[in-house]
Amino acid sequence: MNISIIGTGYVGLVTGVCLAKKGHKVICVDKIQSVVDSINNGITPIYEKNLNEFLIDVLGDKLEATTDIKYAVENSEISIIAVGTPFTEGKIDLEYVKEAAYDIGMVLKEKKDYHVVCVKSTVIPTTTDTIVLNILEVASGKKLGEFGLVMNPEFLREGNAVEDFMNPDRIIIGTIDDTSFDVFSKIYKDYFSAPIIRTNTRTAEMIKYATNALLATLISFSNEIAAVSEEIGDIDAVEFLEGVHMDRRLSVNIDGKLIKPDIVKYLKPGRGFGGSCFPKDVKSIISFSESLGYVPRILKSVIEVNDFQTERLLNLLKEKIGELNSKSITVLGLSFKPGTDDIRESQSIKLIKSLQEKGALIKCYDPVAIENAKKELKDYSNIEYFDIYKDALVNADAAVIMTDWDVISSIGYDEFKKLMNNPVVIDGCRIFDKKEAQSNDINYVGIGCR
Ligand code: UGA
Repeated sequence: MNISIIGTGYVGLVTGVCLAKKGHKVICVDKIQSVVDSINNGITPIYEKNLNEFLIDVLGDKLEATTDIKYAVENSEISIIAVGTPFTEGKIDLEYVKEAAYDIGMVLKEKKDYHVVCVKSTVIPTTTDTIVLNILEVASGKKLGEFGLVMNPEFLREGNAVEDFMNPDRIIIGTIDDTSFDVFSKIYKDYFSAPIIRTNTRTAEMIKYATNALLATLISFSNEIAAVSEEIGDIDAVEFLEGVHMDRRLSVNIDGKLIKPDIVKYLKPGRGFGGSCFPKDVKSIISFSESLGYVPRILKSVIEVNDFQTERLLNLLKEKIGELNSKSITVLGLSFKPGTDDIRESQSIKLIKSLQEKGALIKCYDPVAIENAKKELKDYSNIEYFDIYKDALVNADAAVIMTDWDVISSIGYDEFKKLMNNPVVIDGCRIFDKKEAQSNDINYVGIGCR
């Protein structure tokens, strides 16, 4: 099929390149000329595993980029809106989605052939069948039926986005009418083996929010229960959550082999969640629900527990080394999770800001996220950046582990002992074994094992 994708950020570009790789003809649209040039030159403007290799494979024959939305819509049967939805003033900002819908609608005014518009950006339930539909109808002068409209959420994890797109677990298509569904589902039918689930557009929008809210809730649940066990003392949350995982409703025993679904990974205590999705999505659904008159109490607590994680790490530090003023603290890991240089809503950046306010001298290490962190922390002093972890550990009074990069989990106990003033290790990711660390003379404490 011929498909245009509006927006070449992380979702748009992965979608465009992967659909081209599956055999469709794709036109990517972006307003920024340098981004378009970069794509047309075979260089992805964002880093995502395997994306650049796939782009080079499909460029020219199956994919092109342009700033000209008219050309893209005229030469495609389907337009996918994959623009950003930033979080401003306590709610999701739909400006770019509205703009894209308007621009597409203006082209549809003149276009004779049937055309389906798809909303892929994460939007609050009701956005597609009210705001987007209204804009399309006004701009095109046509009614739904003369053009099609669907909502098709994405479930792409940063760092695994290409793999997640090529091998989805489910494909959700929200539609109001049959023709939109019949035309749009051709993108996936015969190309992907995952089940296609048809819903209305609001349900499709809600599936996305509910999925992220559930995962974020599991993380905050684990951190809450870990906090309770810290107060009780002599209970390790990693150990008892392992016992929880083995419940037959979470892990399945098949022929004597225990199969642990990925979801149990989210049942692990740690420094809390970050990134461009969980915090924003949970806050957006809270504020939308409140605007309708319902206060979502669990979701509010999910954010509250997550925000409190920095305080807990600071408390663990103080218990080990006393007041933080003038102490040398090494922060290991800056990105919100391993496999990315993304520091948006990173718990590590929040910790560094708090440490700096308390007068600590900070040395931080990350294999890839230093440049982004420098930009975010440009107004903060007393921070040194290292791309070699050993240099960051020299003469430190304590080290805090904030991102579970392999390179960090393979640091030897001897290295902590040799390089630091005191081998005090605060494990925000629970990557080291408490007993093993302590028996190697590391003054170790982690979230959930005080
Ligand atoms: C998340 C979802 O996993 C995707 O399914 C979804 O499509 C995406 O948001 C989105 O809305 O676009 P992502 O933000 O890339 O993807 O990252 P995750 O791997 O889910 O991790 C999110 C945060 O939770 C990270 O800070 C991670 O470190 C943290 N986390 C994850 C934990 O603290 N503990 C865990 O056990 C797992």
